[in-house]
Amino acid sequence: MSMDALVMGGSRGIGRAIAGALSDAGINVYAASRRDVDTSDLDSTREFAKAHPGTDVLVLNTGGPPPKTFADTTEQDWLKYHNQLFLGFCTVLRNVRVNDGGYIFLISSSVIKEPDPRLVISAAYRAAFSEVLRVQSRTEYAERDITCVTIAPGPINTDRTRELVDDVEEFQKQLPMGRLGEPREIGEFVAGIVSRRIKYLSGAVINFDGAGSRHVF
Ligand SMILES: NC(=O)c1ccc[n+]([C@@H]2O[C@H](COP(=O)([O-])OP(=O)(O)OC[C@H]3O[C@@H](n4cnc5c(N)ncnc54)[C@H](OP(=O)(O)O)[C@@H]3O)[C@@H](O)[C@H]2O)c1
Repeated sequence: MSMDALVMGGSRGIGRAIAGALSDAGINVYAASRRDVDTSDLDSTREFAKAHPGTDVLVLNTGGPPPKTFADTTEQDWLKYHNQLFLGFCTVLRNVRVNDGGYIFLISSSVIKEPDPRLVISAAYRAAFSEVLRVQSRTEYAERDITCVTIAPGPINTDRTRELVDDVEEFQKQLPMGRLGEPREIGEFVAGIVSRRIKYLSGAVINFDGAGSRHVF
């Protein structure tokens, strides 16, 4: 049976790798860039949802906020990323119907479990949206056999990491595995779950961080 996937933030980095791996698995993929939808702009998000009213696999992904401490974060920043990382995704969930038996993947961040003082905006809004997805995964989506998985990446080899880290070579030497994660690894993981029809993983938050997290649970 043919399946459709809608991958937001699908033009670069992790989203692009997921789109590629799903496509290699025989799924019809629409990979959206910022030209298709700006999740910080609710009109743009509603228009996008109107153009893509239904799918089997929905990947909620967008750009991350700039590194700023709480003291440096302005009201404008909070409002923009409230839309970009929280309300925009709520708007997509309310308006893009995921078909029964489908999948929703949220590309989040390891900062939801281990907050970084420079990424306070990211930690706050991503954690908030994870709660929305958790509630929905236990109610409507569970009833309709829709599997919801949150992926919490650590440092991955994309433009985003190069924006956040000055000396990537030096930085990766200090990581437990001595390297960044490759976006392909997340792509293959997502495609594997979908193509092998793994359903009972629903509700999971996956640390995709090369053993970077210090917590056990
Ligand atoms: N890379 C990491 O180490 C890492 C770790 C933890 C969490 N994350 C988070 O995971 C997500 C994906 O990361 P990445 O490394 O793949 O990022 P990336 O390489 O910077 O790619 C970002 C993607 O999001 C799209 N995008 C940017 N701003 C958008 C907006 N306002 N509305 C809609 N789409 C937008 C971009 O589209 P265009 O190509 O059109 O710009 C691009 O496709 C980000 O939220 C990032 O913060 C990344």
